[in-house]
Amino acid sequence: MTKPFPKPPSSPAGRPSALLDTRVIYCGDNLEQLAKLPDHCVDLIYIDPPFNSNRNYEVFWGETKEKRAFEDRHISTQAYIDYMRPRCVQLHRVLKVTGSFYYHCDWHADSYVRVMLDQIFGAGAFGTHIIWRRTNAKGLAFKSFPNNHDSIFYYRKGEDYTFNRLYLPHSEKLIESHYKNVEPETGRLYTLGDLLNPNPDRPNLKYEFLGFTKVWRWTKERMLDEYKNGRVIQPSPGAMPRYKRYLDEQKGVPIDSIWTDIPPINSQAKEDLGYPTQKPIALLERIIKASSNPNDIVLDAFCGCGTALVAAQQLGRQWIGIDISPTACRVMAKRMRDVGHIWEDEKAWRAGRGFVVRDLPWTIDKLRAIPPFEFENWAVIALGGVPNAVQVGDMGIDGKIYPVGTKPADQNDMFAGDWYPIQVKQKDKVGRPDVDQFEAVMAREDRQRGFFVSFDYTSDAASECESFRKKTGRIIKLITVKDILEEQLAQKM
Ligand SMILES: C[S@@+](CC[C@H](N)C(=O)[O-])C[C@H]1O[C@@H](n2cnc3c(N)ncnc32)[C@H](O)[C@@H]1O
Repeated sequence: MTKPFPKPPSSPAGRPSALLDTRVIYCGDNLEQLAKLPDHCVDLIYIDPPFNSNRNYEVFWGETKEKRAFEDRHISTQAYIDYMRPRCVQLHRVLKVTGSFYYHCDWHADSYVRVMLDQIFGAGAFGTHIIWRRTNAKGLAFKSFPNNHDSIFYYRKGEDYTFNRLYLPHSEKLIESHYKNVEPETGRLYTLGDLLNPNPDRPNLKYEFLGFTKVWRWTKERMLDEYKNGRVIQPSPGAMPRYKRYLDEQKGVPIDSIWTDIPPINSQAKEDLGYPTQKPIALLERIIKASSNPNDIVLDAFCGCGTALVAAQQLGRQWIGIDISPTACRVMAKRMRDVGHIWEDEKAWRAGRGFVVRDLPWTIDKLRAIPPFEFENWAVIALGGVPNAVQVGDMGIDGKIYPVGTKPADQNDMFAGDWYPIQVKQKDKVGRPDVDQFEAVMAREDRQRGFFVSFDYTSDAASECESFRKKTGRIIKLITVKDILEEQLAQKM
């Protein structure tokens, strides 16, 4: 027997959003970031945490030599659940009593996740186990049925939750087989529906109508009205009366727990950012439309490249994103600008229009500590460049700066258009050997100008750049992390 809904907390059912910053991407561990949010403040939470999949997701965010392990290799399912439990407790705390929660996972840990969520939310809060068909893989290499779906667990915090029923349009096949009749005067398609009451034990609805004494669906009065207005007809003289149901008045097929109509992102998809766990916008749109209303607050605490946030923005919701990866936060911010069409700008944000990214670890000490590929991405993006999109063989180039107006349309073609190479080293005392290597890159690519970023340089690095300039006319600009941070600070002031 399922438990009833847990009793709502005594505090009010959600604070006004004025007390909570929205349109913010927080960079950091969600356990710490969530602790800063007040109780009962968001309307909808979607999370898609790294699965307990033992898969080695590698090469995200355009890193070059470094392979990024996605940290989804928890040593055991128990370790994964132990990691997720305190985070889900926090998520439950920040959810309004009218709010909904969606946890996206797959077969590796789904049963354990469901038990954990029942314990946190209460079994009565469970709504639906949504099955999303994410691939049609044949799985012939395995002696088993292929696992082609993800599980999305849907919970509600209290009884008075938002739910907007969604429909899919009728299929062509159903229209052809059911809506065969065309009304001659209007051209409208219709089908004929049954007027008999499914419950024969309704003596008050038993009466004679057009020669048939039956237990009808409606009272005699309503039946006569519908007959007069042409909605109840006799298809042929003496035939059983039927109800005329027009196709254009039908909402479609109510969406149920099996979602097979949303294809996964493929490499040709317009929205593809090359990130293996990126979810389709359509999937998030469905969740957001079903469980929130315009201006409600949507939270994604493992937001990756920001699919939920972009969908929320496009649907006129408020949103908050959290991700531990600084690169993910930058990619997301760019996507929000390009696709969500709002500006990352403190002033615009204060005026209720733009968005902001908070808590990026940009101090010298923190930049020393982040993974090398994150550092490369940070440096390239900070210079206004484009990180190298190729995963292997970056040919000594970590990113490129395109002079204004010269950026090629096809960003995958690293070597199109006019550009300056950027080389990044996450170390101190970059010396002559590193500069020599970069000079070879510049000569090979026939570039007149290049940029080198590191923490600092030896004096012979600077003199080597100078003699290279004298010999070849090519300029290498040595930039320190401090230069970039001070420049960023100056821009903020
Ligand atoms: C599977 S991806 C999410 C993909 C996302 N749904 C999308 O469509 O782009 C999981 C994300 O969770 C982030 N992450 C992992 N552990 C985290 C933590 N403790 N706090 C915040 N983010 C975390 C990872 O950096 C990664 O970007």
